[in-house]
Amino acid sequence: MALRIFQALPAYFGGKRRLLASIFRHVPSPSEAPVFIDAFLGGGSVSLYAKARGYQVRCNDVAERSVIVGRALIENDRYTLEYDDLVRLFMWTEGPGYAEKCLAPDVFPTRHARFLDAALANARKLEGPKRWLAFLLVVKYALGLRPMGNWGAKTIIHQMEDGDYEAMNPNYVKDVFARKIPYHPIGLANKIRESINRGVFANGQENSVHQGDVFEFLAGVEGDVAYFDPPYASTQSYERSSRPLDELLTGAPVDVSPNPFSTESPEKILPKLFEAAAHIPLWIISYGNKAIDLNGLIDLVRKHRPNVTGEEIHHVHCTGLASVESRQKNRELLVVGREK
Ligand SMILES: C[S@@+](CC[C@H](N)C(=O)[O-])C[C@H]1O[C@@H](n2cnc3c(N)ncnc32)[C@H](O)[C@@H]1O
Repeated sequence: MALRIFQALPAYFGGKRRLLASIFRHVPSPSEAPVFIDAFLGGGSVSLYAKARGYQVRCNDVAERSVIVGRALIENDRYTLEYDDLVRLFMWTEGPGYAEKCLAPDVFPTRHARFLDAALANARKLEGPKRWLAFLLVVKYALGLRPMGNWGAKTIIHQMEDGDYEAMNPNYVKDVFARKIPYHPIGLANKIRESINRGVFANGQENSVHQGDVFEFLAGVEGDVAYFDPPYASTQSYERSSRPLDELLTGAPVDVSPNPFSTESPEKILPKLFEAAAHIPLWIISYGNKAIDLNGLIDLVRKHRPNVTGEEIHHVHCTGLASVESRQKNRELLVVGREK
């Protein structure tokens, strides 16, 4: 879906932007089902779309990187980032920060790391929605520095650091210039600022974001529809693939502990989720087909809901990096569980 508001979101691994029409086909209108729960907010595409459609959105994620999106764009419906705010993010700060000391030049070229450190230090001095908008700018900026969407391409980042474009693979050269990485950080940051502001709007509702484990969140939330997009079993965990970003935001090394949604089988972890969501009338579940097939997932849901339907959608998660084989095999499972 190519709405302008989506330009505000970070490029998120596993994001559901291209599946929104399929998902929302199953959601009754806001007059029939006013409260939409997004239990795994991620990059925010589902919540932002639900907000644009007029639902009252209650979303949750365990990760700071996702909660930033929620506070900046789902809860906030009025404040934008002005050019003056951006200039303040560039203000001098004491000494090198975590990005320059520990992440450059393997993850970020040094001059971009310096900007990220200054922007974070200055964002922490802000209050209210502007603080979250500034953090979102940092998140989008950091993600935009990944060569072809990949943190692991150290050699390319070193070549970016040295401006050694002759040695660089030509596909990466194109990518690096398309992202304007060789230019001054203010130009890059200003483009991001403008794109973030496109996602700020009011929908006449009090929308809210919660940061916590999904089981704790579900115990305290009421609503008409719940959308579940957990990490899929047998896929790379979000904690691992987002580690440099999480370290940047924390300003310290982070431990990647195993996430039960990635390590446990769907037959073990999903029933716990369904028990925790028993009080919500309608469920929509997104899942991958690596560890379970459509009929298997329908059978799991049927143990908790009498009326279950499902479909399989051809979908590649991370287009840039997916192999030809995974493109052919990947299916997105979409299952709907109703109370009657
Ligand atoms: C597949 S992503 C969601 C993608 C999202 N629907 C989108 O369109 O961008 C899964 C999210 O679940 C979060 N997560 C993982 N374990 C969690 C838990 N136990 N409780 C809450 N959130 C969790 C991760 O941080 C990640 O952001």
